[in-house]
This record gives sequence, structure tokens and C-alpha cells, in this order.
Amino acid sequence: MYIDILTIFPEMVKLVTGWGILKRAIEGGLLHVRAINIRDFTMDRHRSTDDAPYGGGPGMVMKPEPVVKAIEYAKSEQEGKVILLTPQGERFTQAKAQALSKQMHLIMVCGRYEGIDERIRYFVDEELSIGDYVLSGGELPALVVIDAVARLIPGVLGNEASAGEESFTQDLLEYPQYTRPPVFRNLPVPEVLLSGHHEKIQQWRKGMSLQRTQKRHPALYQQYLRHHQGKEE
Ligand code: ADE
Repeated sequence: MYIDILTIFPEMVKLVTGWGILKRAIEGGLLHVRAINIRDFTMDRHRSTDDAPYGGGPGMVMKPEPVVKAIEYAKSEQEGKVILLTPQGERFTQAKAQALSKQMHLIMVCGRYEGIDERIRYFVDEELSIGDYVLSGGELPALVVIDAVARLIPGVLGNEASAGEESFTQDLLEYPQYTRPPVFRNLPVPEVLLSGHHEKIQQWRKGMSLQRTQKRHPALYQQYLRHHQGKEE
């Protein structure tokens, strides 16, 4: 998958490309991440990417020309899906991550300043928000989306099963996990996990996932019940 991030802070992209699973995916050629500096598409002497709002008011507005030129540049070799990160967008979810992981080329547009010129929206396919809070720019949200999407690309997780072995792991909160030692500060690992009985372990894990989701995230639990009604796993 090819991902372009259009930003005035290209250095921020290294936050996700330099470590762990994403670094490995890039080195393995499964993922190509490119930071495109919007400032490189400015025409004026000061290379300005923002300007005062028409109609007055506080703050600055991101200019349309450099952003749209950067989008066109990103598309010049290969068509792509253009995504604008904004608190006004559709909420980013695991289902959305699944859908995006099937794309060949994502072009992520990171807004900055107090806002973007409304006409930029005509050059965008989709708007995404990572939650109901306002960050100072779209960079961190873009990196959140990239992280969630990249780990769903086939081959990116070392252990293919980790992403979706049992369908419930995708749609519910995780079951409790333990590693050695068997007793830590008087806290034992649940007996069933030491039993070696695979089927019982799976049952226990699913039960814990259901219990946790119902308690901590009732809306996700209801969604799970709707989607899995009548389906035996
Ligand atoms: N830009 C600023 N805040 C944001 C958010 N919550 N989601 C996506 N983009 C943003």
C-alpha cells in the first residue's frame, strides 16, 4: 500500500515510520509512506501556506492552492483516495480501518491553523475524525489512521492470526492476557490458561471478551450482538 501524507510538518511522519510493526512493513516493501511538504507547492516569496480569513475574525486559514497542488502531485503517478483529517469528519472506526486497508493508495491531507479554505473539500473523497476533541492539526490523526490501517494489510503482522484468527477478537475488547511468571506478587494466572486445553482456553477468552465489552463499552457490545446474531463461531 502507498500512503502519502500532505503536511507542513513532514518530520512528524517519522513518529510512526521509524519503529516497530510499521518500520518492519516498510522495510519489507508491504508499505510505502511518503511525506509531502505542502510548503513545496507554494508560489510566493514567503512560501506561505496560510492567510487571513475573508470576513475577518481571529486566526489564519490554510490556503487552497498549495494543498490542491500537493494532492495533484500525489495523484500524478497513481490515482488515490484523498482523505482529509478533521473533527468535522465521519468517525474513524475499526470497520473504517478494514475498508481502507483494501485501498492501493491513500492520500492523507493534514489541516493546520484554525481552519482550511472550504474549497479544498472539493478535492477530497472522504473526511475522517478520530474523536470529539480538537487537536492542533491533522498530523496525529493521520498517523493514528495509518497505524490502524497498516496492521490490517496482509503480511504486516508477523503472526497472520493475531489480526483476525477468531472473528470475535476484531469486534470485541481484548480478553486478559498473561505471561510468565505463573504467580506475580501473589497474583496467579487463571488456572485454565495453564491447562493446555485449547478449546477451554478459547471458551474462557471469548467469555472474558464478551464480559469486558458489555461492561466497558456497551455500544460496541450491542453492535457485536447485532452483527453476530445466530452465527456460531
Ligand atoms: N484535526 C484536529 N482535530 C482532529 C480530530 N479530532 N480528528 C481528525 N482530525 C483532526
